[in-house]
Amino acid sequence: MGVDVSHAAIGASVHGQQINTENSSMDRIKIIGGRKLHGTIPISGAKNAALPLLITSLLTPDMLTLKNVPNLADVNLLLRILRNHGLDLTIDGKRAAPRNYPGETFHLSARDIVDTTAPYEMVAKMRASFWVLGPLIARCGKARVSMPGGCAIGTRPVDLHLAGLKALGAEIDIDGGDVVAAAPNGLTGNRVVFPKVSVGATINVLLAAALARGETVIENAAREPEVGDVATCLVKMGAKIEGIGSSTLHIEGRHQLEGAVHSVLPDRIETGTYAMAVAATGGDVVLEGARLDLLQAAFDALGEAGAEISETETGVRVRRNGSGVAPVSIETQPFPGFPTDLQAQFMGLMSKADGTSVIRETIFENRFMHVQELVRLGADIKLHGDAATIKGVAELHGAQVMATDLRASVSLVIAGLTAEGETTVNRVYHLDRGFERLEEKLSRCGAEIERVSD
Ligand code: EPZ
Repeated sequence: MGVDVSHAAIGASVHGQQINTENSSMDRIKIIGGRKLHGTIPISGAKNAALPLLITSLLTPDMLTLKNVPNLADVNLLLRILRNHGLDLTIDGKRAAPRNYPGETFHLSARDIVDTTAPYEMVAKMRASFWVLGPLIARCGKARVSMPGGCAIGTRPVDLHLAGLKALGAEIDIDGGDVVAAAPNGLTGNRVVFPKVSVGATINVLLAAALARGETVIENAAREPEVGDVATCLVKMGAKIEGIGSSTLHIEGRHQLEGAVHSVLPDRIETGTYAMAVAATGGDVVLEGARLDLLQAAFDALGEAGAEISETETGVRVRRNGSGVAPVSIETQPFPGFPTDLQAQFMGLMSKADGTSVIRETIFENRFMHVQELVRLGADIKLHGDAATIKGVAELHGAQVMATDLRASVSLVIAGLTAEGETTVNRVYHLDRGFERLEEKLSRCGAEIERVSD
């Protein structure tokens, strides 16, 4: 029996809340615009793969070793949540080499799950922590997880997560803002057809299915490389999964999963962000460790805009010399389309294009908070529904700006790098959630950028 989860709606939706990280420092980033970027930028492990991979460790009593884990506020926050469930962590990464960020190696051991609750105070701060739900039900037969928070980029329901887990046999209730789930006799594989592509729901069901009895088929699964990275890790842990990278995943659950060693894939959003920064300022930078195949749609758009992109032995080289930035219209789409997580950065780039472009956001309904801040820098942007029309201007001018989410904040950094004079990006804690040593990586390539603490 298959379940089309669109007909199993649970009505559990939660409004996006403004995030607030543990390290919510009030640091600012100060940028003097106008410098071209030249050099090498090492690309870190992907935040959006590291987070679900950390959660994957809950599925086994054995040791899961994760390499190339980025040092980010979101990672640290999730670790606090996982420790609450009983996860034990040791780190032996060496981060000393000044021109190299090899990432950290985490040894994660969830031998005993001591607590199956994930309280509001923790989950409200980071949406991805909601993904503990599937593994906890699968391994312990029960879980109580608060409805999530996350970046303020729109209404972000969890109905697909819940319907998918119900399809595997979980009984789910909502109680006082918490999802209360039980599967006293374990989960059983099923056919789950998602009516809409969701990265988080795919991951939640995938993780649960790895410990469910029998086969689960996820149709219309998210194809994002981070989902594939989690599936690949699960295979190393003993799960049988076919269709990795495609929209149909076949998962043969196991009674118990084993330990494994896995390296987090490079961050395609960090890659695209720096590529857009180079396209905006001009210059020549090698993004070390970056993979072209993870970001084809964005690189195609950058190529149309006038950047030269090529693969090198160590990563991806991005150049723009001489030519201006051509206007390019894009629409965000699930992978392999243009990622929503690069929409703001691309708008920063288009703000100084030689003409008019249109950017349509189809994934999140409220992911345009950077628009008013880019306008403060002199950009000419008009919003109409889910689209923004950007008339490129000859110059942007430095100003005080702030943004309410991670990718919006970094779009202001890109704009600031090309603006005349000084730009101050406030609320740097948003950047610290997802960019490791941003100012250091950019200043090594010639940007005039520094972090200022009060
Ligand atoms: C993941 O969020 C990422 N987060 C987001 O990155 C990314 O923007 C997003 O996927 C899309 O690629 C992490 O990986 C930690 P979704 P997620 O479920 O899983 C709707 C960043 O900046 N939906 O794929 O929460 C939803 O409202 C962050 O790094 C439902 O309707 O996104 C949205 O419109 C921000 N019901 C669409 O699906 C559900 O139950 C896609 O969301 C779940 C989602």
